[in-house]
Amino acid sequence: MSMTTVKIALVTGANKGLGFETSRQLARQGITVLMASRSSIRGKAAARTLRDEGLNAEFIHLDVTRPEQIRKAAAEIRRRYGKLDILVNNAGTSADGAHGRNSTETISPRALRKTFDVNVFGLVELTQKLLPLIKKSGAGRIVNVASILGSMTIHSSQGGMSYKPFAYDASKTCVNAFTIHLAAALAGTNVKVNSAHPGWVKTDMGGPGAPLSPEEGAGTAVRLATLDADGPTGKFFHGEDELPW
Ligand SMILES: NC(=O)c1ccc[n+]([C@@H]2O[C@H](COP(=O)([O-])OP(=O)(O)OC[C@H]3O[C@@H](n4cnc5c(N)ncnc54)[C@H](OP(=O)(O)O)[C@@H]3O)[C@@H](O)[C@H]2O)c1
Repeated sequence: MSMTTVKIALVTGANKGLGFETSRQLARQGITVLMASRSSIRGKAAARTLRDEGLNAEFIHLDVTRPEQIRKAAAEIRRRYGKLDILVNNAGTSADGAHGRNSTETISPRALRKTFDVNVFGLVELTQKLLPLIKKSGAGRIVNVASILGSMTIHSSQGGMSYKPFAYDASKTCVNAFTIHLAAALAGTNVKVNSAHPGWVKTDMGGPGAPLSPEEGAGTAVRLATLDADGPTGKFFHGEDELPW
Protein backbone atom coordinates (compact mmCIF):
# COMPACT_ATOMS: atom_id res chain seq x y z
CA MET A 1 0.00 0.00 0.00
CA SER A 2 1.37 3.42 -0.98
CA MET A 3 0.23 6.78 0.39
CA THR A 4 -0.03 9.60 -2.15
CA THR A 5 0.63 13.24 -1.22
CA VAL A 6 -2.10 14.44 -3.59
CA LYS A 7 -5.47 15.16 -1.96
CA ILE A 8 -8.07 12.49 -2.76
CA ALA A 9 -11.82 13.11 -2.58
CA LEU A 10 -14.75 10.79 -3.09
CA VAL A 11 -18.12 12.25 -4.08
CA THR A 12 -21.18 9.99 -4.18
CA GLY A 13 -23.89 10.49 -6.80
CA ALA A 14 -21.29 12.32 -8.88
CA ASN A 15 -22.68 11.56 -12.32
CA LYS A 16 -25.04 14.54 -12.38
CA GLY A 17 -26.50 17.51 -10.52
CA LEU A 18 -24.79 18.73 -7.37
CA GLY A 19 -22.45 15.73 -7.16
CA PHE A 20 -21.07 16.40 -10.61
CA GLU A 21 -20.56 20.10 -9.93
CA THR A 22 -19.02 19.45 -6.50
CA SER A 23 -16.57 17.07 -8.17
CA ARG A 24 -15.67 19.70 -10.76
CA GLN A 25 -15.09 22.44 -8.19
CA LEU A 26 -12.95 20.18 -5.98
CA ALA A 27 -10.93 18.99 -8.98
CA ARG A 28 -10.33 22.62 -10.00
CA GLN A 29 -8.51 23.00 -6.67
CA GLY A 30 -6.02 20.31 -7.73
CA ILE A 31 -7.76 17.51 -5.85
CA THR A 32 -8.05 14.07 -7.44
CA VAL A 33 -11.76 13.30 -7.39
CA LEU A 34 -13.21 9.82 -7.38
CA MET A 35 -16.63 10.27 -8.93
CA ALA A 36 -18.85 7.57 -7.49
CA SER A 37 -21.86 6.56 -9.51
CA ARG A 38 -24.20 3.59 -9.39
CA SER A 39 -24.30 3.57 -13.20
CA SER A 40 -21.05 2.69 -14.96
CA ILE A 41 -22.15 4.33 -18.19
CA ARG A 42 -23.25 7.61 -16.59
CA GLY A 43 -20.33 7.66 -14.14
CA LYS A 44 -17.67 7.01 -16.78
CA ALA A 45 -19.15 9.70 -19.02
CA ALA A 46 -19.16 12.22 -16.13
CA ALA A 47 -15.51 11.50 -15.25
CA ARG A 48 -14.55 11.76 -18.93
CA THR A 49 -16.20 15.19 -19.13
CA LEU A 50 -14.04 16.48 -16.27
CA ARG A 51 -10.89 14.86 -17.64
CA ASP A 52 -11.60 16.58 -20.97
CA GLU A 53 -11.49 19.84 -18.99
CA GLY A 54 -7.99 18.89 -17.84
CA LEU A 55 -9.07 17.82 -14.35
CA ASN A 56 -8.11 14.74 -12.34
CA ALA A 57 -11.31 12.76 -12.13
CA GLU A 58 -11.90 9.02 -12.05
CA PHE A 59 -15.03 6.94 -12.07
CA ILE A 60 -15.70 4.57 -9.20
CA HIS A 61 -18.65 2.18 -9.25
CA LEU A 62 -20.79 2.66 -6.15
CA ASP A 63 -24.43 2.17 -5.33
CA VAL A 64 -24.47 3.28 -1.69
CA THR A 65 -27.14 0.69 -0.86
CA ARG A 66 -24.88 -2.21 -1.95
CA PRO A 67 -22.55 -3.32 0.88
CA GLU A 68 -20.36 -5.38 -1.48
CA GLN A 69 -19.80 -2.33 -3.69
CA ILE A 70 -18.93 -0.24 -0.61
CA ARG A 71 -16.38 -2.87 0.46
CA LYS A 72 -14.91 -3.02 -3.03
CA ALA A 73 -14.64 0.76 -3.31
CA ALA A 74 -12.93 1.01 0.09
CA ALA A 75 -10.47 -1.75 -0.86
CA GLU A 76 -9.69 -0.04 -4.18
CA ILE A 77 -9.03 3.32 -2.52
CA ARG A 78 -6.82 1.65 0.12
CA ARG A 79 -4.82 -0.17 -2.57
CA ARG A 80 -4.44 2.80 -4.91
CA TYR A 81 -4.07 5.74 -2.52
CA GLY A 82 -3.73 4.45 1.04
CA LYS A 83 -5.95 7.25 2.40
CA LEU A 84 -8.98 9.42 1.70
CA ASP A 85 -8.93 13.16 2.45
CA ILE A 86 -12.49 14.15 1.58
CA LEU A 87 -15.79 12.28 1.54
CA VAL A 88 -18.82 14.13 0.19
CA ASN A 89 -21.93 12.09 0.93
CA ASN A 90 -24.02 13.66 -1.80
CA ALA A 91 -26.11 10.80 -3.25
CA GLY A 92 -29.74 11.25 -2.31
CA THR A 93 -33.26 10.40 -3.27
CA SER A 94 -36.88 11.06 -2.35
CA ALA A 95 -39.58 8.45 -2.70
CA ASP A 96 -42.36 10.65 -1.30
CA GLY A 97 -44.07 11.36 -4.63
CA ALA A 98 -46.90 13.95 -4.67
CA HIS A 99 -44.56 16.89 -5.03
CA GLY A 100 -45.44 19.78 -2.77
CA ARG A 101 -47.82 17.83 -0.52
CA ASN A 102 -47.42 16.73 3.06
CA SER A 103 -46.93 12.95 2.67
CA THR A 104 -46.94 12.11 6.41
CA GLU A 105 -50.42 10.51 6.53
CA THR A 106 -49.96 8.44 3.39
CA ILE A 107 -46.29 7.55 2.94
CA SER A 108 -45.84 3.78 2.60
CA PRO A 109 -43.29 1.79 4.60
CA ARG A 110 -41.74 0.82 1.27
CA ALA A 111 -41.20 4.43 0.23
CA LEU A 112 -39.85 5.26 3.67
CA ARG A 113 -37.38 2.35 3.49
CA LYS A 114 -36.34 3.23 -0.05
CA THR A 115 -35.53 6.79 0.96
CA PHE A 116 -33.75 5.80 4.17
CA ASP A 117 -31.77 3.05 2.38
CA VAL A 118 -30.01 5.63 0.22
CA ASN A 119 -30.04 8.81 2.31
CA VAL A 120 -29.29 7.27 5.71
CA PHE A 121 -28.25 3.60 5.82
CA GLY A 122 -26.07 3.77 2.70
CA LEU A 123 -24.50 7.03 3.82
CA VAL A 124 -23.70 5.69 7.30
CA GLU A 125 -22.33 2.36 6.08
CA LEU A 126 -20.13 3.99 3.44
CA THR A 127 -18.77 6.50 5.92
CA GLN A 128 -18.00 3.80 8.48
CA LYS A 129 -16.18 1.67 5.91
CA LEU A 130 -14.13 4.63 4.67
CA LEU A 131 -13.32 6.05 8.11
CA PRO A 132 -10.05 4.10 8.58
CA LEU A 133 -8.82 5.66 5.31
CA ILE A 134 -10.09 9.13 6.23
CA LYS A 135 -8.26 8.90 9.57
CA LYS A 136 -5.03 8.34 7.59
CA SER A 137 -5.47 11.80 6.04
CA GLY A 138 -3.77 14.67 7.82
CA ALA A 139 -6.99 16.68 7.47
CA GLY A 140 -10.01 14.44 6.84
CA ARG A 141 -13.22 16.21 5.87
CA ILE A 142 -16.64 14.55 5.75
CA VAL A 143 -19.52 16.50 4.24
CA ASN A 144 -23.01 15.11 4.62
CA VAL A 145 -25.32 16.72 2.09
CA ALA A 146 -28.49 17.18 4.13
CA SER A 147 -31.20 19.78 3.47
CA ILE A 148 -32.91 22.59 5.26
CA LEU A 149 -35.92 20.24 5.03
CA GLY A 150 -34.17 18.14 7.68
CA SER A 151 -34.27 20.99 10.18
CA MET A 152 -36.74 20.17 12.96
CA THR A 153 -36.33 23.69 14.34
CA ILE A 154 -37.58 25.18 11.09
CA HIS A 155 -40.34 22.59 10.54
CA SER A 156 -41.68 23.09 14.06
CA SER A 157 -41.56 26.87 13.98
CA GLN A 158 -44.67 28.90 13.21
CA GLY A 159 -44.89 29.50 9.47
CA GLY A 160 -41.60 27.63 9.09
CA MET A 161 -41.97 25.34 6.09
CA SER A 162 -45.16 24.15 4.42
CA TYR A 163 -43.38 21.69 2.10
CA LYS A 164 -43.31 18.45 4.14
CA PRO A 165 -42.31 15.29 2.23
CA PHE A 166 -41.99 13.09 5.32
CA ALA A 167 -39.62 10.37 4.13
CA TYR A 168 -37.17 12.83 2.65
CA ASP A 169 -37.33 15.29 5.54
CA ALA A 170 -36.96 12.62 8.24
CA SER A 171 -34.06 11.02 6.36
CA LYS A 172 -32.24 14.36 6.25
CA THR A 173 -32.91 14.88 9.97
CA CYS A 174 -31.17 11.51 10.50
CA VAL A 175 -28.27 12.66 8.32
CA ASN A 176 -27.93 15.65 10.63
CA ALA A 177 -28.04 13.39 13.69
CA PHE A 178 -25.24 11.34 12.14
CA THR A 179 -23.20 14.51 11.60
CA ILE A 180 -23.54 15.51 15.26
CA HIS A 181 -22.83 12.03 16.61
CA LEU A 182 -19.89 11.31 14.32
CA ALA A 183 -18.31 14.72 14.95
CA ALA A 184 -18.51 13.99 18.68
CA ALA A 185 -16.97 10.55 18.19
CA LEU A 186 -14.11 12.11 16.21
CA ALA A 187 -13.53 15.10 18.49
CA GLY A 188 -9.83 15.67 19.02
CA THR A 189 -8.87 14.00 15.72
CA ASN A 190 -7.96 15.65 12.39
CA VAL A 191 -11.35 14.70 10.93
CA LYS A 192 -14.14 17.28 10.64
CA VAL A 193 -17.76 16.34 9.93
CA ASN A 194 -20.39 18.86 8.83
CA SER A 195 -23.80 18.94 7.17
CA ALA A 196 -24.44 21.04 4.07
CA HIS A 197 -27.65 22.53 2.73
CA PRO A 198 -27.00 23.41 -0.92
CA GLY A 199 -30.03 25.68 -1.24
CA TRP A 200 -32.85 25.01 -3.67
CA VAL A 201 -30.96 24.03 -6.79
CA LYS A 202 -31.92 23.41 -10.41
CA THR A 203 -31.22 19.68 -10.77
CA ASP A 204 -33.36 16.65 -11.57
CA MET A 205 -34.33 16.62 -7.88
CA GLY A 206 -34.70 20.38 -7.39
CA GLY A 207 -36.63 20.90 -10.63
CA PRO A 208 -36.48 23.68 -13.20
CA GLY A 209 -38.12 26.27 -10.91
CA ALA A 210 -35.25 26.33 -8.42
CA PRO A 211 -33.45 29.66 -8.12
CA LEU A 212 -29.85 28.38 -7.80
CA SER A 213 -27.62 26.82 -10.44
CA PRO A 214 -25.67 23.64 -9.58
CA GLU A 215 -22.50 25.79 -9.68
CA GLU A 216 -23.91 27.99 -6.90
CA GLY A 217 -25.41 25.06 -4.99
CA ALA A 218 -22.16 23.09 -4.85
CA GLY A 219 -20.40 25.94 -3.04
CA THR A 220 -21.44 24.90 0.47
CA ALA A 221 -20.19 21.32 0.16
CA VAL A 222 -16.94 22.47 -1.47
CA ARG A 223 -16.29 24.97 1.32
CA LEU A 224 -16.89 22.34 4.03
CA ALA A 225 -14.76 19.79 2.15
CA THR A 226 -11.79 22.15 2.15
CA LEU A 227 -12.02 23.69 5.64
CA ASP A 228 -8.82 24.77 7.36
CA ALA A 229 -7.68 23.15 10.59
CA ASP A 230 -9.43 25.87 12.61
CA GLY A 231 -12.74 25.36 10.79
CA PRO A 232 -15.91 24.09 12.45
CA THR A 233 -17.02 20.51 13.00
CA GLY A 234 -20.41 19.08 13.94
CA LYS A 235 -22.30 22.01 12.36
CA PHE A 236 -24.92 22.59 9.65
CA PHE A 237 -24.32 25.25 6.99
CA HIS A 238 -25.72 26.91 3.90
CA GLY A 239 -22.89 28.93 2.44
CA GLU A 240 -21.25 30.66 5.40
CA ASP A 241 -24.50 30.72 7.39
CA GLU A 242 -24.99 28.24 10.21
CA LEU A 243 -28.45 26.62 10.15
CA PRO A 244 -30.49 25.35 13.12
CA TRP A 245 -30.85 21.57 13.55
N1 LIG B 1 -31.51 20.10 -5.61
C1 LIG B 1 -31.89 20.66 -4.47
O1 LIG B 1 -32.61 21.67 -4.45
C2 LIG B 1 -31.43 20.08 -3.16
C3 LIG B 1 -31.74 20.78 -1.98
C4 LIG B 1 -31.31 20.29 -0.75
C5 LIG B 1 -30.56 19.13 -0.71
N2 LIG B 1 -30.28 18.43 -1.87
C6 LIG B 1 -29.48 17.22 -1.76
O2 LIG B 1 -28.36 17.31 -2.62
C7 LIG B 1 -27.95 15.99 -3.02
C8 LIG B 1 -27.79 15.95 -4.53
O3 LIG B 1 -29.06 16.21 -5.10
P1 LIG B 1 -29.29 16.72 -6.60
O4 LIG B 1 -30.20 17.87 -6.51
O5 LIG B 1 -28.01 16.82 -7.31
O6 LIG B 1 -30.17 15.50 -7.15
P2 LIG B 1 -30.08 14.61 -8.47
O7 LIG B 1 -29.71 15.45 -9.64
O8 LIG B 1 -31.34 13.84 -8.49
O9 LIG B 1 -28.84 13.63 -8.19
C9 LIG B 1 -28.91 12.65 -7.20
C10 LIG B 1 -27.69 11.76 -7.34
O10 LIG B 1 -27.76 10.73 -6.34
C11 LIG B 1 -27.54 9.49 -7.01
N3 LIG B 1 -28.13 8.35 -6.31
C12 LIG B 1 -29.41 8.09 -6.01
N4 LIG B 1 -29.52 6.88 -5.42
C13 LIG B 1 -28.26 6.38 -5.33
C14 LIG B 1 -27.71 5.18 -4.83
N5 LIG B 1 -28.46 4.21 -4.32
N6 LIG B 1 -26.36 5.01 -4.89
C15 LIG B 1 -25.57 5.97 -5.42
N7 LIG B 1 -26.03 7.10 -5.96
C16 LIG B 1 -27.37 7.30 -5.90
C17 LIG B 1 -28.16 9.68 -8.39
O11 LIG B 1 -27.72 8.67 -9.28
P3 LIG B 1 -28.57 8.27 -10.61
O12 LIG B 1 -28.26 9.31 -11.65
O13 LIG B 1 -28.05 6.92 -10.93
O14 LIG B 1 -30.02 8.28 -10.20
C18 LIG B 1 -27.60 11.06 -8.70
O15 LIG B 1 -26.26 10.98 -9.11
C19 LIG B 1 -29.00 15.04 -2.47
O16 LIG B 1 -28.55 14.45 -1.27
C20 LIG B 1 -30.20 15.95 -2.19
O17 LIG B 1 -31.04 15.44 -1.20
C21 LIG B 1 -30.68 18.90 -3.08
